[in-house]
Parts: sequence; C-alpha cells; structure tokens
Amino acid sequence: MTRKLFVTTALPYANAAFHIGHMMEYIQADIWVRFQRMQSEGNGLREVHFVGADDTHGTPIMIAAEKEGITPQEFVAKIAAGRAQYLDGFHIAFDNWYSTDSPENVELSQGIYRKLRDAGLIQTKTVDRFYDPVKGMFLADRNIKGECPKCHAKDQYGDNCEVCGAAYQPTELVNPFSVFTNATPILKPSEQYFFKLSDPRCFEFLRDWLNTPGRLQPEMVNKVSEWLGEAGEKLADWDISRDAPYFGIPIPDAPGKFFYVWLDAPVGYLASLKNYCEKQGMDFNALLNDPATEQIHFIGKDIVSFHLLFWPAMLKFADHPVIEKLKVNVHGHLTVNNEKMSKSRGTGISPLRYLNLGMNPEWLRYYIAFKLNFKVEDLDFTGDDFVARVNSDLIGKFVNIASRCAGFIAKKFDGKLASELSPSAQDWIKRALLSAEGKERQASIAHNFENREFGKALREIMEIADAANQYVDENKPWVLAKDAEKTAELHEVCTTALILFRQLAILLSPVLPGVAANVRKFLKDERMVWADTEVASGAVYKTMLGRTIGAYEHLMTRVDAKMIEDLFDAPAQQAAAAPAAAEAAAAATGIEELAPEIKIDDFAKIDLRVAKIVNCEHVEGSDKLLRLTLDVGEGRHRNVFSGIKAAYKPEDLIGKLTVMVANLAPRKMKFGISEGMVLAASAADEKANPGLYILNPWPGAEPGMRIG
Ligand code: MSP
Ligand code: ZN
Repeated sequence: MTRKLFVTTALPYANAAFHIGHMMEYIQADIWVRFQRMQSEGNGLREVHFVGADDTHGTPIMIAAEKEGITPQEFVAKIAAGRAQYLDGFHIAFDNWYSTDSPENVELSQGIYRKLRDAGLIQTKTVDRFYDPVKGMFLADRNIKGECPKCHAKDQYGDNCEVCGAAYQPTELVNPFSVFTNATPILKPSEQYFFKLSDPRCFEFLRDWLNTPGRLQPEMVNKVSEWLGEAGEKLADWDISRDAPYFGIPIPDAPGKFFYVWLDAPVGYLASLKNYCEKQGMDFNALLNDPATEQIHFIGKDIVSFHLLFWPAMLKFADHPVIEKLKVNVHGHLTVNNEKMSKSRGTGISPLRYLNLGMNPEWLRYYIAFKLNFKVEDLDFTGDDFVARVNSDLIGKFVNIASRCAGFIAKKFDGKLASELSPSAQDWIKRALLSAEGKERQASIAHNFENREFGKALREIMEIADAANQYVDENKPWVLAKDAEKTAELHEVCTTALILFRQLAILLSPVLPGVAANVRKFLKDERMVWADTEVASGAVYKTMLGRTIGAYEHLMTRVDAKMIEDLFDAPAQQAAAAPAAAEAAAAATGIEELAPEIKIDDFAKIDLRVAKIVNCEHVEGSDKLLRLTLDVGEGRHRNVFSGIKAAYKPEDLIGKLTVMVANLAPRKMKFGISEGMVLAASAADEKANPGLYILNPWPGAEPGMRIG
C-alpha cells in the first residue's frame, strides 16, 4: 500500500522574518520528507505532500501594520515575499506555501466551528474584559502592563512577571496601563464564545487518542496526561473569540466577533493542503478520507497544548477524517551558545547573514541533523563544535574519499571504473556495509531516519565512512599509482572506494540534497536511489562496475573558523536579524527603523560611561577585532573586544576617550572575555556606507563619568 504522508511544520507568525530556530524546524521536517521521497523512488511506496503557510491573524500583526500605516494584508504580504530566500537558501522543499488569511481557511475554520456548535461544544459567557477607552479596543494580556502584584516590579506584562516569574490575571496588576495609549484600562463586559474542553466527551476522547501507539513521543503522552488530570477535572473551557477590531476570521452568526488566532491557525494546515490540491488537480477530500493517509505535524515544545489538546478535540468533534491520522512530532528548541532566543526576533544567528557570508547551508543541515533525536530536547549551536563537526565528518571523512580516488580514475583509466571486483574487494565492501551480525546497515539507517533519530543515522553513516577511509589508507592508491605493475590493483582500489562513496552519498542525500545532486553529475548517474544501497541483492555494485564517470570537482569546502566570527559579530548581525518589515522600511528611508518606544526607566538600565582607551592592539587570528583596554575610573582596567579593526589603527585610538556600556554582562568570546562594549555608529545600508564611527565625548569629560 502506498503511504500518503501529509507533512507540515508549525505555521510561523507573519510578524517577522525567520530566525535560526525556524530553520531548525524546517530542516528537520525537510530531511524526513526527503527521506520518505527517496523510499518511494522507483516503487511508488510513498506519496508525500509537504505544506506550510504563514500564520497571519491576531492583534500583534494588526498593530504592527497600523504602526507602518499599511493594512494587515499588505503587512503580511511583505513578510510572505521574504520567505522564499530562506527556504530556497537552506534547500527546504515545501510543495506549497500558503496563508491562514485565505478563502480556504475561512471556509474550513467556519465549517469546523459550525460542527462544534452543532455538537453542543460551543458556549457563550459574558465576561469582564479589559478595554482601552482611548483606543476603543479590548486588550489582550500582553497589551496591558503594570506593577507585579507579588514582587512589585514595575512595567510587567498582564500575564506574568519577568522579574519574579509569578503568573497572574491582568486584573491583579497594580496601576495597570494600556501599552497603546497609557490609558488606565477599564473592565467592560463582553460576550465571549468558548469551546467546552471541560465537556466529559473531550476528556474521554483525548485520553484514548493520546495513548494510541505511535501517535506521540512518550514524553508528550506523559505531559498531556498530566494536563488531563484523573478525570479531566483540569481541563478548562477555551475562549475562542475576540472582539472587533481584530484581524481574523468572523465567527458565523456573531456580529463583531472573530476567531482567536489559535482557532484558525492549525486549520491553516488543511487550507494549505486544499490550496495545493486545487493547484495540482488532486482531490482534497479523497486524500483526507483515504485510510492510507497520515498527517504529521512537526512543532516546537512551546506550542504543545494547542496541538495536543485543542486541535485534536476540534477535529474529533467536527467529525473530521484526519483525526485518526494525526501524529505530532515535538522538538526542543535551538539555542545559540547556550542562550535562548526570543520567540519572534531570534538572537544569535541570522539565517540570511549565514547565507550572505557564503556559508554552505548543508553544513547547518548536517550539524542540526547530527544533534537531533526522537526526544524533546533542546539542542545547542556552538561555533567551535560546528566547525569541528562539519570539517571532521563531511570533509575529513566523506568528501575525502572521492577527492583521494577520483583523480586516478580520470588520469589513468579514462574515467572508467573497473568492471569487476576481486573477492577481497567485495569483502571490504561487505565489511563496511554490513553490521557485525551481517545485517544491512542501510536498513538500520533507514529505520533511524524514519523514526527521526537523525543523529543515530548519521553516526552509523560515518562509521561506514570510517571503514571506507580505512580501506583507502590500507591500500594506498597514491603508492600503487607509482608502480606500473599495480595498475589493475589501483583500478580496483579506486573503484571500490568510489562504490562506498556513492553509497554514502545516497545515505546522506536527505541531509545533503545539494551535494547529492553534484555527486550525481560527478558519477554521471541520474539514479542514486535508496534501493541501490542493498548489499544482499548486489545493487550496490551493479550500477557502478564499468561505468564512465565525470571529472571530480570540489563537492564541499571546509568551514573557515573566521566565518563563525563574522557570523557572531554583534552590530551588523543585529541589523540582519531585524524584522523583515523593518528592513523594508529602512530601505525606503535609508536609515534603520527606530526601535519600539521605551520609558525613561528602560533607558536608565543602561549604564553608559566615559572610558579612556589606555591600550589598543590587534587580535591575533582575527581580521575584525581590536582588543581595547579601557579605564572607566574603577581602579581596574577592562578588556573589551570591538569589531572596529577595519576602521581604526590601534595607535590612533590609544589615549582617546570614548563611550562604553559599562553594565553589560561579560561575554565569552573566542579570544577571551569581553567586559563591555564601546559604542560606534554605522549605516543601515552597509554597502552604501561601510564605515564605523566610534563615539568621542567633548573635551573636559573624564573616565567614569556617567552619560545620561
Ligand atoms: N504561529 C505559531 C504556530 C501556529 S501552528 C498552527 C507559532 N509561530 S512561531 O513563529 O512563533 O514559531 C513557529 C515554530 O518555530 C514553532 O514550532 C516554534 O516552536 C518554532 N521555534 C521557535 N523558536 C525556536 C527555536 N529556538 N528552536 C527551534 N524551534 C523554534 O508558534
Ligand atoms: Zn514579580
């Protein structure tokens, strides 16, 4: 039977450009999808549909659009237009990219809602809600700030305190104010629509659904079981309505009410599939009703409750056919140098900057895949680790095999591989490709890809690479090449090594699709399908023996550690990570868009001081940084690295005064600890004006003076 796989990633909020965390999710899903597609080549055992969309609705996008003086639709379109460069750049091959702000989504969301209503699972209640009387708008928890009721920290959001971590209702805040107008919110009654998750039917269904084997990772089964409680007593009704003005889908028969964004967001998965089916001339309903169809969501750990409580309950009681087919794969978050990134803006690494530096997207795909497993664990990107992993595995082990052997085939044998192999060479191949128990390693690798144990799959692939390198090391083709009598042996050794290389290229193709395409060209082999990796059937040799191959061209270069330094270089990186809409605004005015408004208290947190540059020197091994020794009158000196080497000579800075951020947390860098930051101006458009201009106080200022 053909497995029909309908695969999605979480639909990203259309309020900002992608950050590196998004790319991690897409890379993971894309590898799985590519693996599945490969399983199907030549046998039709899989049909894979991989779709995504922008999650467009809700207050934040409405407000962001308003700030830019454009409609939410225009705002979302601008963000959507920026998606392709990221997806194409990292070889993410969605079949369709769509939007939750679409006719399909309106129809499907309203249809699901009507069925839930008919099932008696929608209830209205009048509740008091915060309202901004100046703006004339109901306020979400995050639109309200005030003093924390527990620790009395000022300026905390309406849902929880970032200082003491307390969670509370906005009604509990001391001196609450609207973030839009600073007006004191008033409580205003409003009729709200609730999805009755507390209904016993929901609990009974979820308990069984959750425990269906193969549906969820065991950690998730445990987590959701906790949320359900013994008898569903912990399940609360879910408010699915928002009052106008709201950018969203109208609730049928409820004038002025819209679906809360999380009601229509997951329906967007179906909307994108429907749109794709229409474009492809496929029957959407038939696909959903087909018993062979599986629906697999890849999502991060922060959005589990929406996908494992509300979404399945919605599908079930709307009598939707996909409910039985739903599988959810939850991943941990990517951190960079062990730091969390903010949800919308991201930190650490800008994916576009990565690409613009000329870094190979497949390095990142490999690195992420290597660190991934079936569990819901965070995974960390660290520069040194990245360089070491990529250079040792991809260059040192994989590419190395071809680069050591291909030249001899071209030079000595007119590009033609040997047409038969001695028993000893065949033995080597078996030893490399079969486990100690004689099992096909490709089968266990396939099993690990299928189960999203990518790290395990890659470790096993690298064991094959180790065996192949050992073969080359022991047989030394470069020595054989010097001896005219050993020509046949040389031919066999290089052929055998390239057979193993082809095997590795096939096994790595889900992770390295670009490299795989180049290996095809090099081997003049359009096939390279998974079925060719079988040792038992001899498939592994058959296509290779006697084949004329092309000239070897470099398949991949090493990571240069300098690139990592550029990747983390702070000031320019912030510009690159700016939200896409802000980037567009910068292009229009020529200056970088102003940051969101802050209060004087926010500014007061930054301690700027006059600093004397007592010493300045080059940093060995860095073409960006200067090492500054600064005196801010503390009776000790500070060590600060600054990316200003292109703009200043060390000797021109020594003895001068400048301005530094003196209370910045010390940061560990490759060359040592940086204890602060000196301030410098730079243009939004680095190409038009690449200059950097450090600040210099007027005469009379002294080290240690506070700036404010
Ligand atoms: N719009 C919602 C999802 C709606 S799904 C019907 C949303 N969007 S998001 O843009 O904030 O996040 C999209 C996905 O990126 C989520 O799965 C989220 O977990 C994932 N990630 C966000 N930060 C991440 C990392 N640092 N690392 C890995 N994935 C990350 O939530
Ligand atoms: Zn607090």
